Amino acid sequence: MGQLRRMLCLWLLLLGFTLVLLIVSDLFHRENESSLQDFDSPRHRFRGNPGPPDDLELIGDATLELLPELVPISSLKEDQLLFVASTQETESKKWSYRVLLPAARKAEEEGAPDRSLPEARHPKCLGDQYSESLPSASVIICFHDEGWSTLLRTLHSVLNTAPRAFLLELLLVDDHSTHDHLKTRLSEYTSHLDGVRLIRSDKRLGVGGCRNLGASEASGEVLVFMDSHCECQKGWLEPLLERVAQDRTRVVSPIMDVIHRETFQYSATQWPVWGVFNWNLEFSWESKPQVLDDESDLAVEAALSPALGGVLAIDRHFFHNVGAFDPGILLRGGEQIELSIRVWLCGGSMEVVPCSRVAHLDHSLPSQDHEQLERNKIRVADTWLDNYRSIFYRRDTLAHFIRQSERPNITERLQLMKKLGCRDFHWYLTTVYPQLYVPQDRPELSGEMYNVAVGGCVDRLPGRDAMILAPCTGTGSQHCDFNSDGEVRWGPAGALCLDAVGEQVVLSECQRAIGERLQWTYIKSSGQLLHRLSQLCVEALKDGQHPGSGAGDLVLRSCTHHPAQQWHFEQLVSP
Ligand SMILES: *[C@@H]1O[C@H](CO)[C@@H](O)[C@H](O)[C@H]1NC(C)=O
Ligand SMILES: *[C@@H]1O[C@H](CO)[C@@H](O)[C@H](O)[C@H]1NC(C)=O
Repeated sequence: MGQLRRMLCLWLLLLGFTLVLLIVSDLFHRENESSLQDFDSPRHRFRGNPGPPDDLELIGDATLELLPELVPISSLKEDQLLFVASTQETESKKWSYRVLLPAARKAEEEGAPDRSLPEARHPKCLGDQYSESLPSASVIICFHDEGWSTLLRTLHSVLNTAPRAFLLELLLVDDHSTHDHLKTRLSEYTSHLDGVRLIRSDKRLGVGGCRNLGASEASGEVLVFMDSHCECQKGWLEPLLERVAQDRTRVVSPIMDVIHRETFQYSATQWPVWGVFNWNLEFSWESKPQVLDDESDLAVEAALSPALGGVLAIDRHFFHNVGAFDPGILLRGGEQIELSIRVWLCGGSMEVVPCSRVAHLDHSLPSQDHEQLERNKIRVADTWLDNYRSIFYRRDTLAHFIRQSERPNITERLQLMKKLGCRDFHWYLTTVYPQLYVPQDRPELSGEMYNVAVGGCVDRLPGRDAMILAPCTGTGSQHCDFNSDGEVRWGPAGALCLDAVGEQVVLSECQRAIGERLQWTYIKSSGQLLHRLSQLCVEALKDGQHPGSGAGDLVLRSCTHHPAQQWHFEQLVSP
């Protein structure tokens, strides 16, 4: 009987809900949508007939102390995120709500919001049993003007996938957002969620500062920093906690899968990967060259990584002892490289744990203060790179000029380094990341490769291995290093070498197997660059000789003294 009554109630509710939808949909058609600023806001409108509830897509369950008449219709305006009361828990005032989105959006977003991600873990990860005594975790999500649904998707994704036995709390830290939907509405929303706390900063802190604020409020044994636009794969938390529990100086990251920014398509990242950076102090995930046999245990074993990205788990005490995030790094950029180098040099280690996967929205971040980014890099270079920092400044000329007029105050960081007895960057380069090519940068044999006849610099055809001539940039992206092995190392990582295939000059991985093909002689007096194997010289074709063909402007020709075969290595600055 009680069952029947409950069913009846439920249907009445749904009927009421449908009516409300009808009214709102009418309003909605007239609504000015200018408040929809999120890049991922759905363009979907409710049609005249909103259809039955199964037209809606479940994105999460929440237990709230709301009454059904408080269904927050207002949320329709901004993001069309709905709450529908489903069942009332007996003997309590709490209702279980379902968080729903219109199904049309599902089509738009390819499986959308709280979809569970397709299984991407290695089969060997699935049977893993984790000890019940794993440390407790505080998940810290910092955000600044994040889209409503993106933020909620992240939040619910964590709540849905992290076992409550280990998830002590989830801290949402608002880094001084300005968007309306992140104000009262978010406070109300989170106040009803168990174990979720919202912390506000009254000034803009930037990524590191915001994470430090979250960390200072957290009480879990392990801090898990998460970006505000992520989706977690089932079982992502336990393998991270286990690695940290085994060694409290370990800092660990899941494999970062990718959610495409326009299609919301999920793509799993191929293992093995590691986090690296180049001499322009730009971080990236890179697949490791080694190919793994699927049966090999290496397919599921954590592997060391020179650096890690924005999602990581770290023991709370270790985090504070090692100096948290550098408070001198403002806004965004450089903070993850800084933390990575410091963790490695000051007694810790970093690794990627393949049984843990978190997908990250491939976000085009709003344009940011470019000079601040340079200042952050300058801080990292001056604090940690010792004498190797001139390699950075030779490439990043803007940083060089900024530093000539102002020095970062790194007094406290140097004291910290001394107190912790940190090793030096040479150790990092030889022990942690020997794969990073250390340029020789000899004067007149390194810098941008300038052609006398055309008046441009050698550059890489975007997305290809062909070489073209382009306006010189002075940003380090065109930097070449002609080294004593006869290689012309390309770009800020120096991992690619000038190579010749047929008559075309191209880029290839620098590897010994094709060593001969990669060897050049530079004749300073004539400016000729001679390919040793073929005994031909590099010549620049004038613009337009290969329109749209995808082929480059650099070819091998019999050596002459024509200006099209004259090259200078130009170092713009000499730090
Ligand atoms: C909607 O808002 C925008 C920006 O505030 C304004 O330019 C536009 O005229 C408005 N449209 C309507 C129909 O009110
Ligand atoms: C640098 O910072 C330290 C401590 O943060 C401070 O005591 C010192 O005065 C600062 N130095 C300069 C030159 O601003």
